[in-house]
Amino acid sequence: MIYMDHHATTPCDQRVVDQMLPWFSQQFGNPHSSSHALGRTAADAIARATANIAESIHVAEDRILFTSGATESINLAIDGIMRHPRQRRQHVVTTTIEHPAVGDVVDRLERDGFEVTRVPVYQQGHDLAGQVDLDALAAAVTDRTALVSVHWANNEIGVLQPMQQIADICHAQGALLHSDATQAVGRVAVDLNDSDVDLLSASAHKFYGPKGVGLLTFGGGRDQRRIRIKPLIIGGGQQSNLRSGTMAPALVVGCAAALQLADAEMEATQEKLLRVRQQLWQGLQDQIDGLVINGPPLDALVRLAGNLNFSVPLVEGETWMAACPDVCFSSGSACSSANPMPSHVLRGIGLSEQLARQSVRFGLGKENTDDEIHSAVERLVSAYKSLV
Ligand SMILES: Cc1ncc(COP(=O)(O)O)c(C=O)c1O
Repeated sequence: MIYMDHHATTPCDQRVVDQMLPWFSQQFGNPHSSSHALGRTAADAIARATANIAESIHVAEDRILFTSGATESINLAIDGIMRHPRQRRQHVVTTTIEHPAVGDVVDRLERDGFEVTRVPVYQQGHDLAGQVDLDALAAAVTDRTALVSVHWANNEIGVLQPMQQIADICHAQGALLHSDATQAVGRVAVDLNDSDVDLLSASAHKFYGPKGVGLLTFGGGRDQRRIRIKPLIIGGGQQSNLRSGTMAPALVVGCAAALQLADAEMEATQEKLLRVRQQLWQGLQDQIDGLVINGPPLDALVRLAGNLNFSVPLVEGETWMAACPDVCFSSGSACSSANPMPSHVLRGIGLSEQLARQSVRFGLGKENTDDEIHSAVERLVSAYKSLV
């Protein structure tokens, strides 16, 4: 089995697992039991992990919340801002190509009477295909806008958004900026000093950490803007009353350890991913005519290094996947693969329904070897040729 679906998830790095293990049964204290040593030891581990994450993304330690994953972080950020009882602004702006974790929350706000604007992105063929149209964004954000939500990196076509320019547009109107950075954290440099994003969501399992833990940063950008969030989960008042419930030291330690490794290895990983992606693309192109890249060109700096998304002639992505079961790739977003509709991201950059259905996504990872690429090309080409 060759795994090439790292936008869906990554294997937990063994070095991360090793750091997590003591926090399950040896050091099992409740980090909120400050009255005894076992509890305080667990609390200290969480504090150290939080400090490491704060240093990595440049945010104050008390502006980080731990959640169950990016989906919860995003729900908390968007609903929490818009539904806060003291929120006077009722308008939210987002893009047409967000992950459903953002899209569905915004759709529900709209059904509940909030005003929503979905800004288009540059279309297929443009060098910046998938980047938000900044003129359209500037026209959409007004002094009635409470929140703008734009993902940092797209999970299907890997396009990176110009976060600082987006932040400037938002802040000129007094709106807050949330970024779903689930595909960016651990893959590219994410620095809240440079990009001045007010709220940021991420999930550890996308950067070789454990599943079941995510983070939300709030405030702590350059201007330390005041941010009021209505909690989704109430109960014991943990995490400053913003996310009640006993924290999971093993998961938080794993999240921080994974981010530290990702930071330390980022340059080498990016170099490797660019190389193996080119090998995969070249191998497929040499033997299958008519492949077309979806999103920005592969040599563009605005594309995640491990992302490859393209359309194939005559064959639907789902059919190709079924004919090649020992290579793990996907025909759209894995998170919405229960949904048979063609990808809204590919439709959002202007592909026809048919071309979107004929598209596939590969997400390469640091453990993919040259041999795996070679073997995947052989299997993919032979499966494709059996179908046409
Ligand atoms: C861009 C993006 N946002 C949010 C999510 C949701 O992450 P999780 O399932 O870890 O909550 C994903 C998962 O694929 C994603 O790619």
